[in-house]
Amino acid sequence: MTVNLKIIIGSTRPGRVGPTIARWVEAFASEREQFDVELVDLAEVGLPLLDEAAIPFFGQYQHEHTKRWSTIVSQADAFVFVTPEYNFFPPASLVNAIQVLLAEWGRKPAGIVSYGGISAGLRSAQALRQLLGNVNVHALAQMVPIPNFAEFIGEDGVFRPNQPMEEGAAGMLEELHKWAAALKPLRQAEARDGAHPEAA
Ligand SMILES: Cc1cc2nc3c(=O)[nH]c(=O)nc-3n(C[C@H](O)[C@H](O)[C@H](O)COP(=O)(O)O)c2cc1C
Repeated sequence: MTVNLKIIIGSTRPGRVGPTIARWVEAFASEREQFDVELVDLAEVGLPLLDEAAIPFFGQYQHEHTKRWSTIVSQADAFVFVTPEYNFFPPASLVNAIQVLLAEWGRKPAGIVSYGGISAGLRSAQALRQLLGNVNVHALAQMVPIPNFAEFIGEDGVFRPNQPMEEGAAGMLEELHKWAAALKPLRQAEARDGAHPEAA
């Protein structure tokens, strides 16, 4: 089964590293035929801080930016979040993007690629797993932590992973596909009953 995989770049600040690492994830996942891969840059999605009057539970969006984001997340069968660590936490841009929606996330699996200094963004990844669980995303135990990320970025601006990172990413994607393939029929059955905003 081909599953729709959205790779989400969590940081949005000027000069960020996020896209550099996410491009590697995108290329690595695209080598696998079982994924239909799309890179999603939150800087381009351009979500303001939560500006909808109705709470996400109702899925009633006034603004075009929220509707566009809802469509993107609804299309996905699985996610990989590429996240930095800001003060031991995921960036506000990513937390906001998750909290703007609710049902669109539900019953989908997610892997996390985190990066930072010696801590490899792992504290951010753990906090992110907690939030994802609260919007009914199955956050995989298999993650890809990248310590001292700058050491893996060449002068040409290309990220070159080491072997453990590649092995970790391969294992995470394998697990992601299993969960995505298992959960998709469940959501499709719910969508037929009108209980899930599954994309057609
Ligand atoms: C607000 C802020 C807080 C940060 N806090 C941490 C931190 O807790 N741990 C860490 O390893 N690096 C931290 N850093 C350094 C980041 O790892 C580094 O700036 C990285 O490039 C951030 O990802 P980005 O370029 O995609 O935004 C912080 C950076 C910023 C901007």
